Amino acid sequence: MNYIFGKRMNSIMHGGDYNPEQWLDRPDILAKDIEYMKEAGVNEATLGVFAWSMYEPREGEFHFEWLKQIMDNLYENGIYTILATPSGARPIWLDNTYPEVMRVDNMGNRNRHGIRHNHCLSSPIMREKISLLDQKLVEEVGNHPGLIMWHISNEFGGECYCDLCKRGFQQYLRKRYDGDINKLNHEWWATFWSARYNSFDEIEPPFKNGQTAIMGLNLDWKKFTTQNYCDYISVEIDTLRKYAKKEVPITTNFMKRFWDIDYRTLAKKIDVISWDSYPFFHNDQESFADTMLESGFDHAMMRGLKKDKPFMLMESAPGKVNWSPYNKLKRPGVHKQFALQTIACGSDTVQYFQWRKSRGAAEQHHGAVMDHLGTTDTRIFKEVAETGNVLKKIAEVEGSIPQNKVAIVFEWENWWAFEDAGGFSWHTKKYDTTCMEYWKALAALGVDADVISANDISNEYKVVIAPMLYSVTEAIADKMKRFVENGGTLLGTYIMGYVNENCLCYEGGFPGAGLSELFGLISEEIDTLYPSDRNGIRFVSGNEDTVLTVKEYAEILRVHDAEVLGVYTDDFYAKQPAFTVKSTGKGKAYYQAARCEDQALIDLLEVVLSSTDITCTRLAKGIEKHTRYTDDFAYTFYLNNSDENAIFEVVDGENLLSGEEVKGSVEIGPKECIVIKQWKES
Ligand code: GLA
Ligand code: ZN
Repeated sequence: MNYIFGKRMNSIMHGGDYNPEQWLDRPDILAKDIEYMKEAGVNEATLGVFAWSMYEPREGEFHFEWLKQIMDNLYENGIYTILATPSGARPIWLDNTYPEVMRVDNMGNRNRHGIRHNHCLSSPIMREKISLLDQKLVEEVGNHPGLIMWHISNEFGGECYCDLCKRGFQQYLRKRYDGDINKLNHEWWATFWSARYNSFDEIEPPFKNGQTAIMGLNLDWKKFTTQNYCDYISVEIDTLRKYAKKEVPITTNFMKRFWDIDYRTLAKKIDVISWDSYPFFHNDQESFADTMLESGFDHAMMRGLKKDKPFMLMESAPGKVNWSPYNKLKRPGVHKQFALQTIACGSDTVQYFQWRKSRGAAEQHHGAVMDHLGTTDTRIFKEVAETGNVLKKIAEVEGSIPQNKVAIVFEWENWWAFEDAGGFSWHTKKYDTTCMEYWKALAALGVDADVISANDISNEYKVVIAPMLYSVTEAIADKMKRFVENGGTLLGTYIMGYVNENCLCYEGGFPGAGLSELFGLISEEIDTLYPSDRNGIRFVSGNEDTVLTVKEYAEILRVHDAEVLGVYTDDFYAKQPAFTVKSTGKGKAYYQAARCEDQALIDLLEVVLSSTDITCTRLAKGIEKHTRYTDDFAYTFYLNNSDENAIFEVVDGENLLSGEEVKGSVEIGPKECIVIKQWKES
C-alpha cells in the first residue's frame, strides 16, 4: 500500500482552501467555520495560500500567532492542515522595494504590482525573501501535530522575459550545446533567414516582436522555463526540508492539460501529485457523460505523473466557478458523482476551492461550501455534506491504485514541438484532445488506460498507443522496438517521427529514428483536410462492410513490409493503405495513417485489442468503469452518467456504498454509482 501521507488516514480526505486570515476580526465566523466543517464531514483545511501580507506586512515584521491559533482549533476538532507557502501572491512592499521580483512579459514590459502568480522565477531576491518566510513557517508550525502536508505556492504558470531570465536561458543553452555556438547554430538550423549567432550572449528569448521563427529556440525556451520552475521550487523545498523537524510530504497544485510547464519534469521534485479540476459541466456542446469522460482522462493524466501512489484533488468548485464564459451551476447530484469518479480514478482526496466565499475582491462570487447566506441548509452545503458521508463509506479504498495494462503516450515536448510546426492546420492539430479521444474510445470498450511518458514504455503494459508522436528521439524509438520485440502491441499514428528532439526533420523517410522499419512503411505525404472533408478506411478482409470515417489528417503511405488491414475509400489515394500491422519478435506494430471520427476510432481500437488478451466489453453510452487494487482486493466503481437507469451484469461482491452483498445484476439510477469490493483474482 502506498499512502499519500505515509500512513492510513482512515478516511478519504475531504476539505479545501480556507482563508481565515480574511476573517480574523470575526471570531463568530471562525467558530462557525469549525462547527460547520464538522457538519460537512470536512477533515482538512488548506491554509495560507495567499497570506504573505498577513505573515509579513512590512519587510522583516512577522506575525504567525493567528496561524498557530487557527491550526490549533482545527486540530482539536479533528481537522488537519495542509499549509501553503505564500509565494502565489506578493506583498506590495516586496514589489516596491525590489522591482526585479515582478515579471517581464514577452514584449519586454515589466508588470506593476498586483494580482498573483506573477513573480520572476530567477530573481535572487524573490528566492531569498520566500526562503526566509518558509524558514519562519517551519520554525513556527513545522512541528504542529495538525500539519500533514506542504503545498508550495499556487498553480505555477507563465513565463518571465526579464534580463535575469534571459541570462538564465543563455546559461542553459551553453550547457545544452557544450558551450559550442556552432553546435547550437546547427541544431537550430540557424542559417535559415540569416539567424546565425556568434555567441551565447546574443541569444534572446522568443520575444513576441523578436525571433520566433526558430523551432529549436522556441522549444529550448519552453524546456528552460520548466527547468526554471524546477530550480525555483527546489529553493522552497530545500528550505522546508532543511529546517523541518518532522517529515511532511510536499506537493504543488497542477492544472488540467497545462501548456506552460512539463509537469512530468516538475513532478519529480514533489512527493505527491495534486491538481485542481474544474470541468465545464452542462455545457452546450456535449453530454454530461462526455464531460465526465474528459474529467476521467484528466485524472488519468495526473495519475500517470506518479503511478505508484494515489493523487489528490486539491481543488474543485462547490456549485460554480467565477471565471468561465458562462458560470453554470453544477446540477443536483453532480457533485457527489464527480467526487466518486475522482476516487475511482485514483485520487485519495476530494477538496474544494473554497470553504467560504470572500466578501470582497475577485472571487466573491466563486462557489464555496459556505455561501454569503451563512447557513448550512443550502443545496450546496447539503451536497457537500452528503459527499462527506459517502467518502466515509469508501474509506478503505485509500492507498489502493489502478493497475492498467493499456497506456497512451502523452509528451509535453512533443506537444510544444508539434504546435509550433507549420504545414498542418493551426485549427486541427489537437494533440492533447486527440490523446483524450483514444482514452475515451478505450473507456467505451470497458478498458481503463494510463497516460504515460514515452520514456516509460515498457512491457508492464500489453498495449501502448502513441498518438501523433511528431517528435521522437532515438532512445524512444529503441524503447518502442524493444517493447514490440518482447511481445507488446504498439499503435503508432499519422504524424509520427517527423522530427528529432531539436525539431530537425528526419532524413530518409518518416517515421524516423528507425521506426519506419518497425512499422514496415514510410509516410510519404500528409494531406491536411478542410473541416468538412471526409475520407474513409475500408477493411481489406473480415469486415469489408465497415468503413471508418476519416477527418482532418490522412497520410499517404509506401508500405514495404507490413500487412495492409485497411485502405482509403476516396480521393486520389483511394485503395492505398491506411491501416497496417507488422509483426516483429513476439509483438505487433500497428500503424493508423489517418485521423478517425469517434465511433471509427472505437472500431479501430477493437481490432488492435482483439489481437491481445485484453478483454473488450463495449459499455452502454454514459457508463464508466474503473478499478483500484490493493494486494488482496479489487474495488470497482461503476458510474452511471447517463439520463436512464443502468443495469450492470457482472458485479458480484460487496457494495461499499450500501453495505449489501451484490450478486448478478444491479440497477442504478442516473448520476449514481456503486463501488464493488471483491477478492482480487490472482
Ligand atoms: C484556482 C486557484 C484558486 C482559485 C480557483 C478559482 O484553482 O488555485 O486560488 O482562484 O482557481 O476557480
Ligand atoms: Zn525573470
